[in-house]
Amino acid sequence: MTSPTRYEDLGLVNTKEMFAKAMAGGYAIPAYNFNNMEQLQAIVIGCAQSSSPVILQVSGSARKYAEAKMLPYMVKGAVELVRSMGSSIPIALHLDHGDSFELAKDCIDSGFSSVMIDGSHLSFKENMRLTAEVVQYAHSKNVTVEGELGVLAGVEDEVSSEKSHYTRPEEVEEFVKKTSADSLAISIGTSHGAHKFKLQPGEAVPPLRFDILETIEQKLPGYPIVLHGASSVTPEHVDMINRYGGKLESAVGIPAEQLRRAAKSAVCKINIDSDGRLAMTAVIRKIFAEKPSEFDPRKYLGPARDELIRLIKEKNTNVLGSAGKG
Ligand code: G3H
Ligand code: 13P
Ligand code: ZN
Repeated sequence: MTSPTRYEDLGLVNTKEMFAKAMAGGYAIPAYNFNNMEQLQAIVIGCAQSSSPVILQVSGSARKYAEAKMLPYMVKGAVELVRSMGSSIPIALHLDHGDSFELAKDCIDSGFSSVMIDGSHLSFKENMRLTAEVVQYAHSKNVTVEGELGVLAGVEDEVSSEKSHYTRPEEVEEFVKKTSADSLAISIGTSHGAHKFKLQPGEAVPPLRFDILETIEQKLPGYPIVLHGASSVTPEHVDMINRYGGKLESAVGIPAEQLRRAAKSAVCKINIDSDGRLAMTAVIRKIFAEKPSEFDPRKYLGPARDELIRLIKEKNTNVLGSAGKG
């Protein structure tokens, strides 16, 4: 058996202090998902250049894809890159949508500083039992834990749900009290992926349920809330994908103003995956269409990485408000 890796030895921090500062400062910490080297480089370079704290977020399937054994070394290298740029931004490594105690423990033992245990598909009681079990282990290693109440529509790693169920504010106090989770993901109208709403022609995107968020804030004053499914599905990238041979019909996301409003509230962590995927795909499609003889991966992955850096700096600066807070 290999000995456990401590996240502190990878140069990482847990999310406690990040969230406390975000709560006090009225901004949100970005949690960007990654699967490969170029995405990881783009996230840390974009956050270092905009001086933003960052949560590097990895789903269970992304961890398999990147190879669980390699991942901690990739992240350690990314932290070293940031420090070599003269940046001291805090960096956390977080498991996204963990679905079992065993997976959460394995991540904690291999250098993750934060884990999500997503029991949102279980009964309230089972969700609390599983979350409390993960919290007990995680806290013994000073690792922070995100729980979830309410179900988002769309794909959450390998679990997919047709319909969303908004978080029931009457459940949040008991959940937090009995589990001791450090933050709570809630469902207020966002969903995963690039097709967040089915709109009729001319119909506007429905607003998020800020009324539910406000009731939760009243029940849990000063407690960090997490927003999943928060990509804006940038029309510029969707159009580019469609123009260069892609087929993404009726892709629609969360408008930036809604995210800005959320970031100023108790929402301390905003999850973004799809926007990064769209940005890279758009650039790669354009290059393939315009230069069909190109076959050096650096010539398309490099510009895709540059576009992701640009997107991340833009989000940190104009949407989450985390730029300059690192
Ligand atoms: O919430 C899900 C994330 O976007 C991760 O997606 O399981 O395809 O890595 P994934
Ligand atoms: P998006 O699909 O909106 O990027 O959401 C990502 C997410 O919530 C990851 O957990
Ligand atoms: Zn999610």
